[in-house]
Amino acid sequence: MNKVYLNGRFVPAEQACVPITDRGLLFGDSVYEVIPAYGGQPFRLEQHLARLRRSLAAIRMEDPLDDTRWRAIIGELCTNAEADDLSIYIQITRGTYRTRVHRIPSTIESTVIAFASPITARDPRIAEQGIIAITLADIRWARCDIKATTLLPNVLAQAEALESGVDDAIFLRDGQALEGTASNLFIVLDGLLITPPNSEHLLPGITRDLVLELAHDTGIAYAEAAITENELRRAEEIWLTSSTREIAPVVQLDDQAVGDGRPGPCWHHMDSLFQTAKEHIRLAARPTSR
Ligand code: PDD
Repeated sequence: MNKVYLNGRFVPAEQACVPITDRGLLFGDSVYEVIPAYGGQPFRLEQHLARLRRSLAAIRMEDPLDDTRWRAIIGELCTNAEADDLSIYIQITRGTYRTRVHRIPSTIESTVIAFASPITARDPRIAEQGIIAITLADIRWARCDIKATTLLPNVLAQAEALESGVDDAIFLRDGQALEGTASNLFIVLDGLLITPPNSEHLLPGITRDLVLELAHDTGIAYAEAAITENELRRAEEIWLTSSTREIAPVVQLDDQAVGDGRPGPCWHHMDSLFQTAKEHIRLAARPTSR
């Protein structure tokens, strides 16, 4: 890994250390962001920074850096990376205190971490064959709209999916389908594209918003509406969206094929719109030749 950002400095990854009393480590007292960059150009940066500030406010923290400083750090991580397509990880913990106490100390300085990792290009088999998911009971807390690092239920759900020989899991709560373990949920039902409305039970995804924008701009009929378990099982198409997975078509849910068991026509259409949006970012990043 190239140099990483830690509390105001870029340092080699192996030298980037956080004290054992950091509250991020002890309590999961921290929030994070994952920002994709294509051709070295961050994608939807403004929206990601806005969500970061929203998460910070929700856990009673101020943003330790201003917009200009965030952009400079992210720009530097992109410039120094070896790959063109990156995921920029940012984490802000409440900081390090001298001892372990639950109460939030009145004087504490946040710990800020940022680093870039290459995004591996999508496996072509995903577009051809799709992915398989299971449904699982949502055992997460009631503020899933905060991008908090306390991801143990998500990690365990992923583990259960992999143990069952499938790719991912979709969370069900009170008879409603909410989102994936690290992605938002879309279905196509009776020709209508549907995603659950933003609420405290799911993350307000940046890719989700882009998909809705693309649907709006190209006249695809869509709705932000609750998806019941029954509707999920009747869906013609199911997609999972995220900054790192883009739009993944689910072709089998539990033991049942979704539609005809292959990525559907709406997914193909939306995926091509999404790939075009990505390509625009890459072209904008390239220096113009005369
Ligand atoms: N996760 N829902 C959850 C629970 C997520 O963790 C994510 C993304 C999303 C999709 O959000 P976005 O489109 O803004 O990436 C929805 C990131 C990628 C992660 O934890 O690595």
